[in-house]
Amino acid sequence: MPRAYSLVTGGAGFLGSHICDALVHKRERVCVIDNLSTGNIDNIKHLMDNPLFRFVNKSIVEDSTIEGLIKECDIIYHFAATVGVKLVYEQPLTTILNNIRSSEFVLEMASQYGKRTLIASSSEVYGNRRGSVRRKLREDDDIHIPHGKRWCYATTKALSEHLAKAYHAENNAAIVICRLFNIVGPRQTGTFGMVLPRFVEWAVNGSPIKVYGNGKQRRCFCSVRDAVDAIVKLADLQSASGHTFNIGSDKSISITQLAMKVKRITNSASDIVYIPYQETYGPDATDVLDRVPDISKIRKFIDFEPSQDIDSIIRDITDHYLAHNARKDRR
Ligand SMILES: NC(=O)c1ccc[n+]([C@@H]2O[C@H](COP(=O)([O-])OP(=O)(O)OC[C@H]3O[C@@H](n4cnc5c(N)ncnc54)[C@H](O)[C@@H]3O)[C@@H](O)[C@H]2O)c1
Repeated sequence: MPRAYSLVTGGAGFLGSHICDALVHKRERVCVIDNLSTGNIDNIKHLMDNPLFRFVNKSIVEDSTIEGLIKECDIIYHFAATVGVKLVYEQPLTTILNNIRSSEFVLEMASQYGKRTLIASSSEVYGNRRGSVRRKLREDDDIHIPHGKRWCYATTKALSEHLAKAYHAENNAAIVICRLFNIVGPRQTGTFGMVLPRFVEWAVNGSPIKVYGNGKQRRCFCSVRDAVDAIVKLADLQSASGHTFNIGSDKSISITQLAMKVKRITNSASDIVYIPYQETYGPDATDVLDRVPDISKIRKFIDFEPSQDIDSIIRDITDHYLAHNARKDRR
């Protein structure tokens, strides 16, 4: 039987819009609900005239629109959330209420109407455990979320995971939890504190590339292309139900190395400058030293091998930034 449609919450955002592209490419029908709080209509403009695509400009938590959409769909990609370190520090209350309420709404109705649901969680749930370069973070590791404003986002994600697991355990709801590790690529905005799009923007414009902290902190960057490919495969895999998966690359790079790569690839004359983390985000601000995922579990379930290296990702982001801003200049 042909599918009704996939519902993508947060589908006008960075990841959500790439999920829409992948589904429409497979000739599947897609409906997006997004309130454009951090998303951008430009991310889905190219899909607007496609008969397979529909956009609902609403908040999940505003009224009962979401219920009707869930009732009629056959799978949900729940990616809507308040995201971004800057936003989380500035608006902890919005972050908590929006993320908890939207997950509660979506999971409750998905369970009621028996709809399979993938939810976007985050590597932030691993807290600030050190040493993951040597001993990678595994899905069954204990979760230990520290004090401080930054960690309210991680708490909302951890609670959403618990909620999803509880619906699975008590109501047999088909849920899949995707713990995403620094997914990057074209369309991601630096406005809310994401590191790579900011570095590219600063480098291209000849502004100082600002590294928060000493730059020795290590992260693993995975292309949105590889992550979305994995997410769509997990959506189709019945045996993934009830499971949590790390999704990301396990190749780490320091933030200083990242800044140097961006500078080289964009042919930038920008200086790399170091700013104390607390100067930007306040006295209780903390950063995480390293964060490397163990991706052996997802490899057992699907064919997953992050294929795009960091240099090629930086080139893609730069090309997208230049094309987008050149278009704006012509208007
Ligand atoms: N990009 C990453 O590396 C990463 C890492 C970890 C987790 N995640 C998770 O993946 C998901 C998508 O992240 P992203 O990077 O694409 O961020 P994004 O900000 O681009 O996407 C989030 C989208 O949700 C929408 N939204 C927020 N609240 C809403 C509401 N109440 N109703 C309707 N729409 C709403 C926003 O407008 C936005 O379009 C989020 O759940 C995020 O926590 C992303």
